[in-house]
Amino acid sequence: RTRPFQVAIDGPAASGKSTTAKMVAQRLGFDYIDTGAFYRCVTYVALSKGIDPLDPHSSKKISALAEQAEIGLQTIFSREQDTMTNGSQKAATLPTTRVFLDSTDVSSEIRTNRVSQYVSAVAAIGPVREAILQKVRKMGATGDDQGSSSRLGLVMDGRDIGTVVLPQADLKVFLVADSRVRAERRLQELVRNGADPTRDILDAKAVQDDLEKRDEQDRTRKVSPLKKAIDAMELDTSNLTLEGQVEVIVNEVNRRRGA
Ligand code: CDP
Ligand code: CDP
Ligand code: CDP
Repeated sequence: RTRPFQVAIDGPAASGKSTTAKMVAQRLGFDYIDTGAFYRCVTYVALSKGIDPLDPHSSKKISALAEQAEIGLQTIFSREQDTMTNGSQKAATLPTTRVFLDSTDVSSEIRTNRVSQYVSAVAAIGPVREAILQKVRKMGATGDDQGSSSRLGLVMDGRDIGTVVLPQADLKVFLVADSRVRAERRLQELVRNGADPTRDILDAKAVQDDLEKRDEQDRTRKVSPLKKAIDAMELDTSNLTLEGQVEVIVNEVNRRRGA
C-alpha cells in the first residue's frame, strides 16, 4: 500500500458522521478530518464581517474569504485509556476536535444556530467549494498538525467526500437516520453540552425542520450535492447504537485491508 487507508463518511445533518468518524479514527489509530468545520469557518467569518450570505452579490466576497482563511484542526484522542490494566475495555472517551481559524480557536463559535442557518448557502457557492476542496485535500495529503498517528489512515466526513473529495477512498460509508431521530439526538447533545435557552433552539420539531431544510439545500445544490456514492455502503443508524455502527465500520476496514 502506497497511501494511507482512506475512509469517507457522508450523510445528512446529525446522522452521526462526526461522532462515528472520530471513534473509528480512535479505534484504528487514523487521522480525522471534519470538512464541515471548513464551511462553518467561512460562514462564521462572513457573518462576523457583516456580509449577508443570502445576497447573491456576496458570493465574490465570501469566495475571497474562503481562499484567505487559514483553517487548522486538532483532534485529541485518548488511545492509552482504551484498555484497563485488567484487560477489560473501559468506555473510551470521545475524542474532541478543536478548530482554528487564523490561529484563533473558533470551535464553539462555528456551532451556533446562526452559523448553522447560513452554512448551506455558503456551501452552495462554487468558488467557495473549490477553495475548500484544495485546503481539505492538502490536509488529507499531509496530515493535520497533530503529528501523532500520521499516515496510517484517514477518516474524513462531510457531504461530498465519497463523490468528490476522495473518489478513490478504500471505504465509503453513507450514514442515514430518521429525521425525527436525528433531531432528538441533536437536542440531547445540546442539553449534554449545557444548552442556553436564550441562544439554542430547544424544541424537537424546530430542530427537525432546521435539519430537513439544510438537507434539502445540500441535496439540491448544483455543485457537489449531498449524494450517496454508488460504491458506498449505506448504514441506517436509526436503530443502532453508536458503538454498534463504529463496530460495523471498523470491521469493514479490517476486512478490506486484510487484517
Ligand atoms: O454536523 P452537521 O451535520 O450539522 O454539519 P456539518 O457537517 O458541520 O456541515 C455543515 C454544512 O457544511 C452542511 O450542511 C453543508 O452545507 C456543508 N458541507 C458541505 O457542503 N460539504 C462537506 N463536505 C461538508 C459540509
Ligand atoms: O456529524 P453529524 O452531524 O452527522 O452527527 P454528529 O454531530 O455526530 O451527531 C450525532 C449525535 O447523535 C451525537 O450526539 C451522537 O452521540 C448521537 N448518536 C449517534 O450518532 N448514533 C447513534 N446510534 C446514537 C446516537
Ligand atoms: O470486497 P468485495 O467486493 O468482495 O465484497 P463487498 O465488500 O461485500 O462489496 C460488495 C458491496 O457491498 C460493496 O459495494 C460494498 O460497499 C457493499 N457493502 C455493504 O453495503 N455493506 C457491508 N457491510 C459491506 C459491503
